This record gives sequence, C-alpha cells and structure tokens, in this order.
Amino acid sequence: MRLFFALWPDEGVRAQLAHWARELHAACGGRPTRPENLHVTLAFLGSVEDGRVAEVERVAGEVAPRVVSLILDQPGYWKHNRIAWAGASTVPVELDAFVAELRSALARSHVSFDTKGFVSHVTLLRDAREPRAMPALDPIEWRIGGFALVQSVTLPQGSRYEIRNSWKGRATP
Ligand code: 2AM
Repeated sequence: MRLFFALWPDEGVRAQLAHWARELHAACGGRPTRPENLHVTLAFLGSVEDGRVAEVERVAGEVAPRVVSLILDQPGYWKHNRIAWAGASTVPVELDAFVAELRSALARSHVSFDTKGFVSHVTLLRDAREPRAMPALDPIEWRIGGFALVQSVTLPQGSRYEIRNSWKGRATP
C-alpha cells in the first residue's frame, strides 16, 4: 500500500487552508486539493508491503513531535511542477528536528522513504499558472498536536487519503 507520514489539520485549520486555496485559485487557476486531503507531508514512503506496516507503526510510536505552532504565512508557487502551496516563512526548529528524528528512526529500521529534503508546505492547487501577484492572506496558526500515517488510495476521481494511525505530540517543557 502507498503510505506517507503527515501533519493532518483540524477542522479550523482545514477551513482556513480551503479559504487560501479559493483565493489562490482566483489568481492561478488549477485543480484545488480536496479539503479533506489537505496536509503537510513529513516523509513519503511510497509502496509498503502489508507485512511491513506494523513495523512502520512501531517506529512511529518511538518518536513524537513537540507541540508547537506552525505559522503558515507564505503562499508560494513552484514553476517546475505547477503547484501553488501554503508555506511558512519560519519553520519551528522543533518541527525540523522531529522530521529528522522520524526519518532517522525509519532508516535505522530499513524502512525506505523519499530522501528529498523536507520542505514544509501544503499543496493547495495542482496544474496552476504562475500568478502575477500573490493575494494577501491572513496567516494560519497550526498547533501541531501530533502526526499521522496516511494511506493514499487511488480512485478514478483522484487520490483519497485515509488516516491509518496517528500519534500525539509531546508538550513543550
Ligand atoms: P506534496 O507533499 O507536494 O503535496 C501523497 O502523494 C503526498 O506525498 C502528496 O502530498 C505529495 O506531494 C507527497 N510526496 C512527497 N514525495 C512524494 C513522491 N516522491 N511521490 C509522490 N508523492 C510525494
């Protein structure tokens, strides 16, 4: 099955991201991510054999992010893949540290993943045009309460993401 680790928004953050997506859509067109699919990818595992999933979940249980706020304050556009996204001008060091910890734990257990560097972002639009100007958008405060293991299910109408398991964050001392 196709799996990835992600930060999954609560309803409030999801609604704000969906608002950003509508505003950006007016500027660059493209295909909006379905609101229920909005997320930040932490590690993309790709295809994992059914018999290995328990091991992946065990590894995830060894690590936990600090409960910190990720402030999404920067809409962006990548020409190379025509994606418009929501990003953070400052990524909390605790989040970068957590992604490094999660990826090291996966590597130690020989779970493979895409080793491209972590770039904290939420994909809002695909096949989008480069906007002439980015709309002004209110920052979104995303309290990182935990993380999730998500399965990507391919359907004729596009991908559906199903949370297989989730783990809580640790309170910051
Ligand atoms: P994204 O993070 O830019 O949105 C599920 O496919 C999610 O994993 C998507 O959010 C996708 O892009 C992300 N992802 C990261 N690396 C990927 C890869 N090598 N192949 C497919 N999707 C990947």
